[in-house]
Amino acid sequence: MAKLWQKAGSGSGLHPDVEAFLSSLPVDSRLFPEDLECSIAHASMLGEMGILPEAEATAIAAELGKMLAEFEAGSLAVDPDSEDIHSFIEAELTKRLGEAGKAVHAGRSRNDQVAVAFRLHILRAFASTQGLLLDALNAVLALAKNHTGTIMPGYTHLQRAQPVTLAHHLLAWAAALERDASRLADGGKRADECPLGSGALAGSGLPTDREATAKALGFARPSRNTMDAVADRDACVDYAAACSIIAMHLSRACEDIVLWTSTEYAFMGLTDAASTGSSIMPQKRNPDPAELIRGKSARIFGGLQALLVLQKGLPYAYDRDLQEDKELFFDLEDTISGCLKAFAVLVSSLVPDVETLRDSVKEGFLEATDVAEYLVLEGIPFRTAYQASKELVSLCIASGKRLPDLGPSEIAAAHPAFAGPGFDVPGFKAYLDPVACVARRDQAGGPAPRRTKEELARLERFIAEAQTGLGRGRKG
Ligand code: ARG
Repeated sequence: MAKLWQKAGSGSGLHPDVEAFLSSLPVDSRLFPEDLECSIAHASMLGEMGILPEAEATAIAAELGKMLAEFEAGSLAVDPDSEDIHSFIEAELTKRLGEAGKAVHAGRSRNDQVAVAFRLHILRAFASTQGLLLDALNAVLALAKNHTGTIMPGYTHLQRAQPVTLAHHLLAWAAALERDASRLADGGKRADECPLGSGALAGSGLPTDREATAKALGFARPSRNTMDAVADRDACVDYAAACSIIAMHLSRACEDIVLWTSTEYAFMGLTDAASTGSSIMPQKRNPDPAELIRGKSARIFGGLQALLVLQKGLPYAYDRDLQEDKELFFDLEDTISGCLKAFAVLVSSLVPDVETLRDSVKEGFLEATDVAEYLVLEGIPFRTAYQASKELVSLCIASGKRLPDLGPSEIAAAHPAFAGPGFDVPGFKAYLDPVACVARRDQAGGPAPRRTKEELARLERFIAEAQTGLGRGRKG
């Protein structure tokens, strides 16, 4: 079949291998609805500006609308010989309307046609990924809500460090996901400009109205420069970067889940909704979704890298290299969606073992910092207090005892800081109780139940507002 750019009636001339190599149809068919929407807006503008007779423009727009309905109903077959979906749409329109169909491309080029359909798709992807991210965040909050009082060890260097609560740990994930939501919102805002009417690179000599098409399609404005408009794929990179950071966060949280559900930690179980069995070892429940989300991050980072390298050094304005953007983008979109959906289920299917979590703070001297802080409140300089606490821990290790098991004389013998006449041993021991350790950490952002409850309420309001924003957002 002759391509759009070939002499009418001639054969394609392309070697079949090259033709197959150049075709983007299997990939960009996904932009079918967006191209039709954009083509309808363009045709209507051509009519309004008197570039096409009103009746002709109306007929074109109506036929494109019909094609959209047929596509949605699954009754429109795409000619597999088309170079891409955009060429197919023009060819199909011409098949249906004859001469009138040939008129639709006035005032635009395939370069801005591709750019605008893709941009519309990207904007919607920002919004739908945002929706899935908020669902995942919601799942984290739902679990955290039940565990503001569940004491567990917090770690640094994967060594038990200080007591926290499960809610506090989960809210650390939530803080990262909230930043991700803002990155998606920010990327969506920046992407909100319309390339349509930029032509091949230099606009059009016809009196087209780019403001009108931008407005009709729900964009904030037309893009600022027609060369940039056909060369720019920043929105794609912004999306990939936002997805990469999300994937990094999910991967870290999943690593926590893998550790927590291991036999070694035994902090939690997973329901059947998000764990798998072994083909040979009947006793096993494996956290496969957590591992696969962790694995998918590699693919997502690869997509970002590929998009950056794709554009590095490309001469202005459009180059065919850019055709690669869509396959990379769609893969990112599908991968991050799958990860976010699976993550929400995974988190909802965690069954914390509250007793094991609480008992785990009893081993490892997690209250050692609080020993030092108790002494600071007694007027002892922190470094001296730290040394005193270290001595007390050493004594415990030497005698095979835990801190709460030490008697008054053992405590007093550990360091002069404990040996003063007024040293209140029962008060000191009460101070070291893990529940008390957590409760007094009630600074902004701290693990104290009062603070985590406040933070949960704030995040719930954030989600509600963000969801309303999505509902209010662009059409489509
Ligand atoms: N399928 C191509 C793409 O996605 C269409 C653009 C072709 N434009 C051109 N000047 N050859 O980039």
